[in-house]
Amino acid sequence: MSDALKRDAAVASLAEVTDGMRLGLGTGSTAAHFVDGVGRLVESGMRLLCVPTSERTAAQARALGIPLTTLDSIGELDLTVDGADEIGPGLALIKGGGGALLREKIVAAASRRMVVIADDSKLVGTLGGFPLPVEVNEFGLKATERAIGRVMAAHGATGELLLRRAAGGEPFVTDGGHLIFDALFGRIPAPEAVSAALLDIAGVVQHGLFIGLCQRAYVAGPDRVLVVDA
Ligand code: A5P
Repeated sequence: MSDALKRDAAVASLAEVTDGMRLGLGTGSTAAHFVDGVGRLVESGMRLLCVPTSERTAAQARALGIPLTTLDSIGELDLTVDGADEIGPGLALIKGGGGALLREKIVAAASRRMVVIADDSKLVGTLGGFPLPVEVNEFGLKATERAIGRVMAAHGATGELLLRRAAGGEPFVTDGGHLIFDALFGRIPAPEAVSAALLDIAGVVQHGLFIGLCQRAYVAGPDRVLVVDA
């Protein structure tokens, strides 16, 4: 989990960025290194137009002088680079540890290409060791919690379902004004089935399983940065 490895992965992924690109900027400690790198490219004269996936990333990009726009005004993006909490087989991901999963997924889905950057602690044989973030509407919270619990039980979950809380103990609120449950499955051998079951719950806004969205991962280890294609 070294910050230097996160930086190595981010720096390697900058090779994907070319002049004139419309770029999605991810969220999290690894993506922050990428945004720093994009700032350097802009400073050196590269013309880029970027869409941030969170208020946090927007603030960082603004401070670096990176030109920003909205997804609505730009339409399709050429590339989005983002971090991940877990990278599983086929480059299926768990994301949302930082709480930005909804905007991250909207931006990734609107991109012709998504690249994920991470240190090698994020590579897993089976997803689910990291609690799956599930973004929910506050209305009917208890009913939604019970429904998520039923999906977990049906898929053999071994861990807890917890409402995410902010540092002060109050519920964590996303940029979109929603709440997050963290669902520890233990193992998610069939991510498509879990995804469909969660999205079938009325109070669920989105979840952190990214399936079929990511084309390439830059995974940094102590000796080199591994490039994994889907
Ligand atoms: C933000 O909501 C997340 O999806 C992050 O991309 C993910 O949690 C990885 O974050 P780190 O790079 O900080 O580990």
